[in-house]
Amino acid sequence: MLPQCMMGLKLLLLLASLLGVLDVSLAAAGGHLGGSMPGSPYNISRKDRGLQRVILTASYSFNNKSNDAFLFKSSKIHRAQRQIVKGIRYNVDFEISRTVCRKRDHNNNLSNCNFQPEGRLHQVSETFQCHLEVWVIPWKNETKTLVFVCT
Ligand SMILES: *[C@@H]1O[C@H](CO)[C@@H](O)[C@H](O)[C@H]1NC(C)=O
Ligand SMILES: *[C@@H]1O[C@H](CO)[C@@H](O)[C@H](O)[C@H]1NC(C)=O
Ligand SMILES: *[C@@H]1O[C@H](CO)[C@@H](O)[C@H](O)[C@H]1NC(C)=O
Ligand SMILES: *[C@@H]1O[C@H](CO)[C@@H](O)[C@H](O)[C@H]1NC(C)=O
Repeated sequence: MLPQCMMGLKLLLLLASLLGVLDVSLAAAGGHLGGSMPGSPYNISRKDRGLQRVILTASYSFNNKSNDAFLFKSSKIHRAQRQIVKGIRYNVDFEISRTVCRKRDHNNNLSNCNFQPEGRLHQVSETFQCHLEVWVIPWKNETKTLVFVCT
């Protein structure tokens, strides 16, 4: 009985130290993780609820920051990945496009907003390409946006 307990303890310690090492290497990689590590990113469905949530939150933040008279929303998801790293990390490339909803109308449900007909506003910037990296820590009820850039 006792030796078994000791074995268990040793195993735990080994695991803990492995995880410790992992933490360091993950931090050192600065978020640009290779595909060969444990918890490496994998593709997820565009319909994934968690993914939809982080994209919606990013859209609100985009609209909050933009000076545009119209609201933007996600129009296409090019790539969506999830990675389990002390929580859930989403890595998304998507497009965000101008809708017909005016900001000043304070419409807070983007799903009711249709996209602008193509070329209607004679502007080239009707669509932006966005890269988003979000880290969700469910047990802390915390969501951190690590990267969100649209060009
Ligand atoms: C919009 O931005 C302001 C300041 O930049 C911030 O205080 C506010 O919380 C933001 N609102 C949302 C919904 O992100
Ligand atoms: C993941 O999705 C991207 C974009 O859709 C695709 O190019 C890539 O081949 C996919 N990778 C895997 C492993 O399915
Ligand atoms: C937004 O509108 C859509 C369609 O009209 C509806 O299904 C959805 O429940 C609404 N969402 C919120 C948060 O009100
Ligand atoms: C998590 O945070 C949201 C908003 O920040 C809040 O509405 C919700 O009640 C929180 N949930 C828990 C379990 O703390």
